[in-house]
Amino acid sequence: MSSNQDLQKRRDAAFARGLGNQLPVYVARARNAEMWDVEGRRYIDFASGIAVLNTGHLHPKVQAAVAKQLDAFSHTCLMITPYESAVVLAEKLNRLAPGPSPKKAIFVTTGAEAVENCIKIARAHTGRSGVIAFGGGFHGRTFMAMALTGKVAPYKAGFGPFPADVYHAPYPIAYHGVSVEDSLEALEHIFKYDIEPARVAAIIIEPVMGEGGFYIAPADFLQALRRLCDQHGIVLVIDEIQTGFARTGRMFAVEYAGIEPDLMTMAKSLAGGFPLAAVVGKAAIMDAPGPGGLGGTYAGSPIACAAALAVIEAIEEENLCGRAVAIGELMTGALHVLAREIPAIGEVRNLGAMVAMELVKNRDPHSPDADLTKALTKRAAEKGLVLLSCGIYGNVIRFLVPLTASDAIVREGLGIVAESLRELIAEPLKSAVNS
Ligand SMILES: Cc1ncc(COP(=O)(O)O)c(C=O)c1O
Repeated sequence: MSSNQDLQKRRDAAFARGLGNQLPVYVARARNAEMWDVEGRRYIDFASGIAVLNTGHLHPKVQAAVAKQLDAFSHTCLMITPYESAVVLAEKLNRLAPGPSPKKAIFVTTGAEAVENCIKIARAHTGRSGVIAFGGGFHGRTFMAMALTGKVAPYKAGFGPFPADVYHAPYPIAYHGVSVEDSLEALEHIFKYDIEPARVAAIIIEPVMGEGGFYIAPADFLQALRRLCDQHGIVLVIDEIQTGFARTGRMFAVEYAGIEPDLMTMAKSLAGGFPLAAVVGKAAIMDAPGPGGLGGTYAGSPIACAAALAVIEAIEEENLCGRAVAIGELMTGALHVLAREIPAIGEVRNLGAMVAMELVKNRDPHSPDADLTKALTKRAAEKGLVLLSCGIYGNVIRFLVPLTASDAIVREGLGIVAESLRELIAEPLKSAVNS
Protein backbone atom coordinates (compact mmCIF):
# COMPACT_ATOMS: atom_id res chain seq x y z
CA MET A 1 0.00 0.00 0.00
CA SER A 2 1.31 3.49 -0.86
CA SER A 3 1.72 6.00 1.95
CA ASN A 4 0.76 9.68 1.73
CA GLN A 5 4.44 10.55 2.04
CA ASP A 6 5.54 8.26 -0.85
CA LEU A 7 2.76 9.56 -3.06
CA GLN A 8 3.61 13.15 -2.24
CA LYS A 9 7.24 12.56 -3.26
CA ARG A 10 6.12 11.00 -6.54
CA ARG A 11 3.58 13.78 -7.08
CA ASP A 12 6.18 16.48 -6.64
CA ALA A 13 8.45 14.74 -9.16
CA ALA A 14 5.68 14.00 -11.69
CA PHE A 15 3.67 17.24 -11.71
CA ALA A 16 4.74 20.77 -12.60
CA ARG A 17 4.82 22.93 -9.49
CA GLY A 18 2.24 25.29 -10.98
CA LEU A 19 -0.40 22.69 -10.15
CA GLY A 20 -0.87 23.68 -6.51
CA ASN A 21 -1.54 21.25 -3.69
CA GLN A 22 -2.93 22.10 -0.28
CA LEU A 23 -2.64 18.85 1.67
CA PRO A 24 -0.44 15.79 1.28
CA VAL A 25 -3.49 13.57 1.78
CA TYR A 26 -4.23 10.93 -0.87
CA VAL A 27 -7.87 9.93 -0.92
CA ALA A 28 -8.82 6.28 -1.22
CA ARG A 29 -12.59 6.61 -0.83
CA ALA A 30 -15.24 9.13 0.18
CA ARG A 31 -18.91 9.18 1.16
CA ASN A 32 -21.13 12.18 1.83
CA ALA A 33 -19.05 14.51 4.07
CA GLU A 34 -16.27 12.05 4.95
CA MET A 35 -13.12 10.85 3.20
CA TRP A 36 -10.56 8.17 4.01
CA ASP A 37 -6.95 8.38 2.86
CA VAL A 38 -4.67 5.63 1.57
CA GLU A 39 -3.49 5.01 5.14
CA GLY A 40 -7.04 4.48 6.37
CA ARG A 41 -7.28 7.84 8.16
CA ARG A 42 -10.71 9.53 8.26
CA TYR A 43 -11.28 13.19 7.34
CA ILE A 44 -14.32 15.40 7.57
CA ASP A 45 -14.66 17.33 4.33
CA PHE A 46 -15.45 21.02 4.79
CA ALA A 47 -14.11 21.85 1.31
CA SER A 48 -16.42 19.83 -0.97
CA GLY A 49 -13.71 19.72 -3.64
CA ILE A 50 -14.00 23.54 -3.87
CA ALA A 51 -17.78 23.85 -3.83
CA VAL A 52 -18.46 20.91 -6.13
CA LEU A 53 -20.13 18.54 -3.68
CA ASN A 54 -23.22 20.34 -2.39
CA THR A 55 -24.89 16.91 -2.60
CA GLY A 56 -21.91 15.22 -0.90
CA HIS A 57 -19.49 12.58 -2.13
CA LEU A 58 -21.22 9.91 -4.21
CA HIS A 59 -24.81 10.84 -3.46
CA PRO A 60 -26.72 7.56 -3.98
CA LYS A 61 -28.95 9.18 -6.63
CA VAL A 62 -25.96 10.53 -8.54
CA GLN A 63 -24.09 7.25 -8.28
CA ALA A 64 -27.11 5.28 -9.57
CA ALA A 65 -27.76 7.72 -12.44
CA VAL A 66 -24.13 7.58 -13.56
CA ALA A 67 -24.02 3.77 -13.32
CA LYS A 68 -27.19 3.56 -15.44
CA GLN A 69 -25.76 5.93 -18.05
CA LEU A 70 -22.52 3.91 -18.19
CA ASP A 71 -24.57 0.86 -19.15
CA ALA A 72 -26.02 2.79 -22.11
CA PHE A 73 -23.19 4.87 -23.64
CA SER A 74 -20.45 7.20 -22.42
CA HIS A 75 -19.86 9.67 -25.27
CA THR A 76 -21.18 10.62 -28.67
CA CYS A 77 -20.56 14.40 -28.61
CA LEU A 78 -23.57 16.61 -28.05
CA MET A 79 -22.74 18.53 -31.24
CA ILE A 80 -22.84 15.35 -33.39
CA THR A 81 -25.52 12.93 -32.18
CA PRO A 82 -27.31 14.34 -29.12
CA TYR A 83 -29.27 12.53 -26.39
CA GLU A 84 -32.45 13.15 -24.41
CA SER A 85 -30.81 13.72 -21.00
CA ALA A 86 -29.00 16.82 -22.33
CA VAL A 87 -32.25 18.28 -23.64
CA VAL A 88 -34.07 17.56 -20.37
CA LEU A 89 -31.23 19.14 -18.39
CA ALA A 90 -31.18 22.27 -20.59
CA GLU A 91 -34.95 22.60 -20.17
CA LYS A 92 -34.59 22.24 -16.38
CA LEU A 93 -31.78 24.82 -16.11
CA ASN A 94 -33.74 27.25 -18.30
CA ARG A 95 -36.68 26.87 -15.91
CA LEU A 96 -34.53 27.24 -12.79
CA ALA A 97 -32.73 30.39 -13.98
CA PRO A 98 -34.35 33.40 -12.31
CA GLY A 99 -36.55 35.88 -14.17
CA PRO A 100 -39.48 35.80 -16.58
CA SER A 101 -37.64 36.03 -19.95
CA PRO A 102 -37.47 32.88 -22.08
CA LYS A 103 -34.09 31.21 -21.56
CA LYS A 104 -31.66 29.09 -23.58
CA ALA A 105 -28.56 27.18 -22.49
CA ILE A 106 -25.24 25.87 -23.72
CA PHE A 107 -23.09 23.24 -22.05
CA VAL A 108 -19.32 23.34 -21.73
CA THR A 109 -16.91 21.42 -19.54
CA THR A 110 -15.32 23.82 -17.02
CA GLY A 111 -16.24 26.99 -15.20
CA ALA A 112 -13.60 29.00 -17.02
CA GLU A 113 -15.09 27.92 -20.34
CA ALA A 114 -18.53 29.05 -19.19
CA VAL A 115 -17.06 32.47 -18.37
CA GLU A 116 -15.26 32.67 -21.74
CA ASN A 117 -18.47 31.79 -23.53
CA CYS A 118 -20.45 34.47 -21.70
CA ILE A 119 -18.05 37.08 -23.05
CA LYS A 120 -18.25 35.58 -26.56
CA ILE A 121 -22.04 35.66 -26.43
CA ALA A 122 -22.17 39.19 -24.98
CA ARG A 123 -19.79 40.47 -27.67
CA ALA A 124 -21.71 38.76 -30.46
CA HIS A 125 -24.98 40.17 -29.11
CA THR A 126 -23.82 43.76 -28.56
CA GLY A 127 -21.14 44.13 -31.23
CA ARG A 128 -19.03 45.75 -28.46
CA SER A 129 -15.77 44.62 -26.90
CA GLY A 130 -15.35 46.11 -23.39
CA VAL A 131 -15.84 44.06 -20.24
CA ILE A 132 -15.94 45.22 -16.62
CA ALA A 133 -15.15 42.85 -13.75
CA PHE A 134 -14.34 43.36 -10.06
CA GLY A 135 -11.15 43.52 -8.04
CA GLY A 136 -10.63 40.35 -6.01
CA GLY A 137 -12.99 38.37 -8.23
CA PHE A 138 -12.04 34.98 -9.63
CA HIS A 139 -13.32 33.69 -12.96
CA GLY A 140 -10.87 30.94 -13.97
CA ARG A 141 -7.50 30.19 -15.48
CA THR A 142 -8.02 30.54 -19.25
CA PHE A 143 -6.96 33.78 -20.91
CA MET A 144 -10.15 35.84 -20.85
CA ALA A 145 -11.03 34.38 -17.44
CA MET A 146 -7.57 35.40 -16.18
CA ALA A 147 -8.06 38.88 -17.60
CA LEU A 148 -11.37 39.15 -15.72
CA THR A 149 -9.91 37.74 -12.51
CA GLY A 150 -9.00 40.52 -10.10
CA LYS A 151 -6.08 38.90 -8.29
CA VAL A 152 -2.56 38.93 -9.72
CA ALA A 153 -0.70 36.37 -7.59
CA PRO A 154 -0.87 33.51 -8.29
CA TYR A 155 -3.43 33.61 -11.10
CA LYS A 156 -2.06 36.22 -13.50
CA ALA A 157 1.58 36.71 -12.54
CA GLY A 158 3.86 35.97 -15.49
CA PHE A 159 1.06 35.02 -17.88
CA GLY A 160 0.26 38.32 -19.64
CA PRO A 161 -0.54 40.02 -21.90
CA PHE A 162 -4.23 39.35 -21.46
CA PRO A 163 -7.13 40.13 -23.81
CA ALA A 164 -7.57 43.89 -24.00
CA ASP A 165 -10.54 46.09 -23.06
CA VAL A 166 -11.05 44.59 -19.58
CA TYR A 167 -11.51 46.96 -16.61
CA HIS A 168 -11.86 46.36 -12.89
CA ALA A 169 -14.03 48.16 -10.34
CA PRO A 170 -13.78 47.63 -6.57
CA TYR A 171 -16.19 45.04 -5.15
CA PRO A 172 -18.31 46.49 -2.34
CA ILE A 173 -16.85 45.11 0.89
CA ALA A 174 -18.16 46.94 3.95
CA TYR A 175 -15.67 45.17 6.25
CA HIS A 176 -12.84 46.73 4.25
CA GLY A 177 -14.46 50.14 4.00
CA VAL A 178 -15.74 49.89 0.42
CA SER A 179 -19.42 50.88 0.29
CA VAL A 180 -21.97 50.25 -2.45
CA GLU A 181 -21.72 53.96 -3.31
CA ASP A 182 -17.90 53.68 -3.61
CA SER A 183 -18.22 50.80 -6.07
CA LEU A 184 -20.89 52.56 -8.13
CA GLU A 185 -18.79 55.71 -8.23
CA ALA A 186 -15.79 53.67 -9.42
CA LEU A 187 -17.92 52.31 -12.27
CA GLU A 188 -18.79 55.88 -13.25
CA HIS A 189 -15.07 56.66 -13.18
CA ILE A 190 -14.38 53.76 -15.57
CA PHE A 191 -16.99 55.24 -17.93
CA LYS A 192 -15.31 58.63 -17.59
CA TYR A 193 -11.63 57.65 -17.65
CA ASP A 194 -11.37 54.37 -19.58
CA ILE A 195 -14.26 53.39 -21.83
CA GLU A 196 -17.62 54.87 -22.81
CA PRO A 197 -20.57 52.70 -21.72
CA ALA A 198 -21.68 52.34 -25.36
CA ARG A 199 -18.55 50.24 -25.97
CA VAL A 200 -19.04 47.94 -22.95
CA ALA A 201 -20.37 44.50 -23.88
CA ALA A 202 -20.66 43.02 -20.37
CA ILE A 203 -20.30 43.48 -16.65
CA ILE A 204 -19.47 40.24 -14.85
CA ILE A 205 -19.80 39.71 -11.10
CA GLU A 206 -19.90 36.92 -8.53
CA PRO A 207 -22.94 37.52 -6.26
CA VAL A 208 -20.76 36.24 -3.42
CA MET A 209 -17.07 36.51 -4.13
CA GLY A 210 -15.70 32.96 -3.87
CA GLU A 211 -11.93 32.71 -4.12
CA GLY A 212 -11.70 36.42 -3.20
CA GLY A 213 -12.99 35.90 0.35
CA PHE A 214 -16.73 35.11 0.52
CA TYR A 215 -17.79 38.76 0.49
CA ILE A 216 -21.49 39.14 -0.22
CA ALA A 217 -22.59 41.70 -2.81
CA PRO A 218 -25.46 43.65 -1.19
CA ALA A 219 -28.82 43.25 -2.97
CA ASP A 220 -29.00 47.01 -3.67
CA PHE A 221 -25.64 46.83 -5.44
CA LEU A 222 -26.76 44.03 -7.76
CA GLN A 223 -30.02 45.93 -8.37
CA ALA A 224 -28.02 49.06 -9.25
CA LEU A 225 -25.86 47.02 -11.66
CA ARG A 226 -29.04 45.73 -13.29
CA ARG A 227 -30.27 49.33 -13.78
CA LEU A 228 -26.88 50.46 -15.10
CA CYS A 229 -26.77 47.60 -17.62
CA ASP A 230 -30.35 48.33 -18.74
CA GLN A 231 -29.53 52.01 -19.13
CA HIS A 232 -26.51 51.37 -21.37
CA GLY A 233 -27.48 48.12 -23.14
CA ILE A 234 -24.75 46.19 -21.31
CA VAL A 235 -25.08 42.42 -20.76
CA LEU A 236 -25.14 41.60 -17.02
CA VAL A 237 -23.32 38.32 -16.40
CA ILE A 238 -23.77 36.70 -12.99
CA ASP A 239 -21.06 34.13 -12.23
CA GLU A 240 -22.81 31.49 -10.09
CA ILE A 241 -20.10 28.87 -10.50
CA GLN A 242 -19.29 28.76 -6.77
CA THR A 243 -22.58 30.07 -5.38
CA GLY A 244 -25.04 27.98 -7.39
CA PHE A 245 -27.13 24.89 -6.68
CA ALA A 246 -28.44 25.59 -3.16
CA ARG A 247 -25.12 26.58 -1.57
CA THR A 248 -26.43 29.96 -0.39
CA GLY A 249 -29.92 28.80 0.62
CA ARG A 250 -31.44 29.54 -2.80
CA MET A 251 -30.86 27.64 -6.01
CA PHE A 252 -28.84 30.70 -7.14
CA ALA A 253 -27.48 33.48 -4.94
CA VAL A 254 -28.69 36.22 -7.30
CA GLU A 255 -32.27 35.32 -6.31
CA TYR A 256 -31.72 37.23 -3.05
CA ALA A 257 -31.41 40.45 -5.10
CA GLY A 258 -34.58 39.73 -7.07
CA ILE A 259 -33.02 40.64 -10.40
CA GLU A 260 -32.90 38.75 -13.69
CA PRO A 261 -29.37 38.22 -15.04
CA ASP A 262 -28.84 38.42 -18.80
CA LEU A 263 -26.42 35.50 -18.66
CA MET A 264 -25.44 33.15 -15.84
CA THR A 265 -22.52 30.77 -15.48
CA MET A 266 -23.01 27.42 -13.75
CA ALA A 267 -20.49 24.68 -12.98
CA LYS A 268 -19.06 22.98 -9.86
CA SER A 269 -22.03 21.55 -7.89
CA LEU A 270 -24.16 21.37 -11.05
CA ALA A 271 -23.05 17.79 -11.67
CA GLY A 272 -21.90 16.63 -8.21
CA GLY A 273 -18.29 15.88 -9.17
CA PHE A 274 -18.60 15.23 -12.90
CA PRO A 275 -17.19 17.86 -15.26
CA LEU A 276 -20.03 19.96 -16.57
CA ALA A 277 -20.59 23.70 -16.89
CA ALA A 278 -23.30 25.77 -18.49
CA VAL A 279 -24.24 29.22 -19.64
CA VAL A 280 -27.94 29.95 -19.23
CA GLY A 281 -29.41 33.25 -20.29
CA LYS A 282 -32.03 35.24 -22.09
CA ALA A 283 -32.82 33.44 -25.34
CA ALA A 284 -32.53 36.64 -27.41
CA ILE A 285 -28.92 37.10 -26.21
CA MET A 286 -27.93 33.41 -26.18
CA ASP A 287 -28.86 33.03 -29.86
CA ALA A 288 -26.49 35.79 -31.02
CA PRO A 289 -23.52 33.56 -32.01
CA GLY A 290 -23.98 31.51 -35.20
CA PRO A 291 -24.13 27.68 -35.33
CA GLY A 292 -20.75 26.11 -34.52
CA GLY A 293 -19.50 29.21 -32.70
CA LEU A 294 -20.11 27.65 -29.29
CA GLY A 295 -19.52 24.15 -27.92
CA GLY A 296 -16.76 21.65 -27.17
CA THR A 297 -15.95 17.97 -27.63
CA TYR A 298 -16.91 16.94 -24.10
CA ALA A 299 -19.44 19.72 -23.56
CA GLY A 300 -22.56 18.18 -22.00
CA SER A 301 -21.08 14.71 -21.54
CA PRO A 302 -23.92 12.19 -21.13
CA ILE A 303 -22.44 10.96 -17.85
CA ALA A 304 -22.28 14.51 -16.47
CA CYS A 305 -25.82 15.25 -17.70
CA ALA A 306 -27.14 12.14 -15.93
CA ALA A 307 -25.32 13.23 -12.77
CA ALA A 308 -26.67 16.79 -13.01
CA LEU A 309 -30.27 15.62 -13.36
CA ALA A 310 -29.80 13.49 -10.23
CA VAL A 311 -28.19 16.43 -8.38
CA ILE A 312 -31.15 18.71 -9.13
CA GLU A 313 -33.59 15.98 -8.05
CA ALA A 314 -31.68 15.53 -4.78
CA ILE A 315 -31.60 19.29 -4.11
CA GLU A 316 -35.36 19.52 -4.61
CA GLU A 317 -36.40 16.28 -2.84
CA GLU A 318 -34.11 16.80 0.16
CA ASN A 319 -34.80 20.55 0.40
CA LEU A 320 -31.09 21.32 0.34
CA CYS A 321 -31.82 25.05 0.07
CA GLY A 322 -33.47 24.85 3.50
CA ARG A 323 -30.63 22.69 4.72
CA ALA A 324 -28.08 25.29 3.53
CA VAL A 325 -29.81 27.92 5.66
CA ALA A 326 -29.83 25.58 8.69
CA ILE A 327 -26.15 24.67 8.25
CA GLY A 328 -25.29 28.36 7.88
CA GLU A 329 -27.12 29.18 11.14
CA LEU A 330 -25.52 26.29 13.00
CA MET A 331 -22.04 27.26 11.83
CA THR A 332 -22.24 31.01 12.29
CA GLY A 333 -23.83 30.53 15.73
CA ALA A 334 -20.82 28.49 16.85
CA LEU A 335 -18.27 30.73 15.10
CA HIS A 336 -19.71 33.92 16.63
CA VAL A 337 -19.31 32.37 20.09
CA LEU A 338 -15.71 31.47 19.22
CA ALA A 339 -15.11 35.00 17.91
CA ARG A 340 -15.96 36.42 21.35
CA GLU A 341 -13.16 34.30 22.81
CA ILE A 342 -10.58 34.65 20.01
CA PRO A 343 -9.71 38.20 18.86
CA ALA A 344 -8.07 36.83 15.71
CA ILE A 345 -11.54 36.17 14.30
CA GLY A 346 -12.22 39.54 12.70
CA GLU A 347 -15.50 38.71 11.01
CA VAL A 348 -17.85 35.76 10.57
CA ARG A 349 -20.18 36.09 7.57
CA ASN A 350 -22.39 33.87 5.49
CA LEU A 351 -25.03 33.59 2.87
CA GLY A 352 -26.68 30.25 3.66
CA ALA A 353 -23.98 27.60 3.85
CA MET A 354 -21.37 29.79 2.19
CA VAL A 355 -19.69 30.59 5.49
CA ALA A 356 -16.46 32.51 6.07
CA MET A 357 -14.26 33.40 8.99
CA GLU A 358 -11.78 36.23 8.39
CA LEU A 359 -8.62 36.07 10.50
CA VAL A 360 -6.87 39.30 11.45
CA LYS A 361 -4.42 40.63 14.01
CA ASN A 362 -5.94 42.43 17.03
CA ARG A 363 -9.44 42.61 15.51
CA ASP A 364 -8.11 45.05 12.88
CA PRO A 365 -9.69 44.46 9.44
CA HIS A 366 -6.61 46.01 7.84
CA SER A 367 -4.18 43.54 9.45
CA PRO A 368 -4.88 40.23 7.70
CA ASP A 369 -3.36 37.15 9.33
CA ALA A 370 -2.51 34.86 6.43
CA ASP A 371 0.02 32.91 8.53
CA LEU A 372 -2.60 31.96 11.12
CA THR A 373 -5.01 31.01 8.31
CA LYS A 374 -2.42 28.71 6.75
CA ALA A 375 -1.52 27.24 10.13
CA LEU A 376 -5.19 26.59 10.87
CA THR A 377 -5.80 24.63 7.64
CA LYS A 378 -2.67 22.57 8.42
CA ARG A 379 -3.53 21.93 12.08
CA ALA A 380 -7.15 21.07 11.23
CA ALA A 381 -5.97 18.55 8.64
CA GLU A 382 -3.70 16.92 11.24
CA LYS A 383 -6.84 16.51 13.34
CA GLY A 384 -8.87 15.09 10.46
CA LEU A 385 -10.66 18.10 8.98
CA VAL A 386 -10.18 19.43 5.44
CA LEU A 387 -10.51 23.22 5.38
CA LEU A 388 -10.00 25.70 2.55
CA SER A 389 -8.60 29.18 2.77
CA CYS A 390 -9.31 32.05 0.38
CA GLY A 391 -9.26 35.83 0.29
CA ILE A 392 -7.48 38.64 -1.46
CA TYR A 393 -4.99 38.55 1.46
CA GLY A 394 -5.17 34.77 2.03
CA ASN A 395 -6.69 35.30 5.50
CA VAL A 396 -10.18 33.82 5.15
CA ILE A 397 -11.31 30.31 5.99
CA ARG A 398 -14.17 29.39 3.67
CA PHE A 399 -16.47 26.65 4.84
CA LEU A 400 -18.10 24.63 2.06
CA VAL A 401 -19.74 21.80 3.96
CA PRO A 402 -21.71 19.31 1.84
CA LEU A 403 -25.36 20.24 2.32
CA THR A 404 -26.09 16.58 2.96
CA ALA A 405 -23.82 16.54 6.05
CA SER A 406 -25.50 15.76 9.38
CA ASP A 407 -25.52 18.25 12.26
CA ALA A 408 -23.27 15.81 14.13
CA ILE A 409 -20.59 15.97 11.41
CA VAL A 410 -20.87 19.77 11.18
CA ARG A 411 -20.45 20.04 14.98
CA GLU A 412 -17.52 17.62 14.95
CA GLY A 413 -15.78 19.71 12.27
CA LEU A 414 -16.49 22.95 14.15
CA GLY A 415 -15.01 21.35 17.27
CA ILE A 416 -11.78 20.73 15.37
CA VAL A 417 -11.75 24.34 14.15
CA ALA A 418 -12.14 25.63 17.72
CA GLU A 419 -9.55 23.24 19.18
CA SER A 420 -7.02 24.02 16.41
CA LEU A 421 -7.47 27.79 16.75
CA ARG A 422 -7.15 27.69 20.54
CA GLU A 423 -3.93 25.68 20.25
CA LEU A 424 -2.45 28.01 17.62
CA ILE A 425 -3.33 31.13 19.59
CA ALA A 426 -1.79 29.68 22.77
CA GLU A 427 1.39 28.49 21.06
CA PRO A 428 3.33 31.76 20.64
CA LEU A 429 2.49 32.47 24.28
CA LYS A 430 3.72 29.02 25.29
CA SER A 431 6.97 29.40 23.34
CA ALA A 432 7.47 32.87 24.83
CA VAL A 433 6.97 31.48 28.37
CA ASN A 434 9.33 28.53 27.69
CA SER A 435 12.10 30.62 26.16
C1 LIG B 1 -16.77 32.12 -9.37
C2 LIG B 1 -15.91 31.21 -10.21
N1 LIG B 1 -15.85 31.40 -11.53
C3 LIG B 1 -15.11 30.61 -12.32
C4 LIG B 1 -14.36 29.55 -11.79
C5 LIG B 1 -13.55 28.69 -12.70
O1 LIG B 1 -14.07 27.38 -12.73
P1 LIG B 1 -13.17 26.15 -13.24
O2 LIG B 1 -12.10 25.96 -12.21
O3 LIG B 1 -14.13 25.00 -13.31
O4 LIG B 1 -12.61 26.54 -14.56
C6 LIG B 1 -14.40 29.34 -10.41
C7 LIG B 1 -13.58 28.27 -9.81
O5 LIG B 1 -13.23 28.27 -8.66
C8 LIG B 1 -15.19 30.18 -9.60
O6 LIG B 1 -15.26 30.01 -8.27
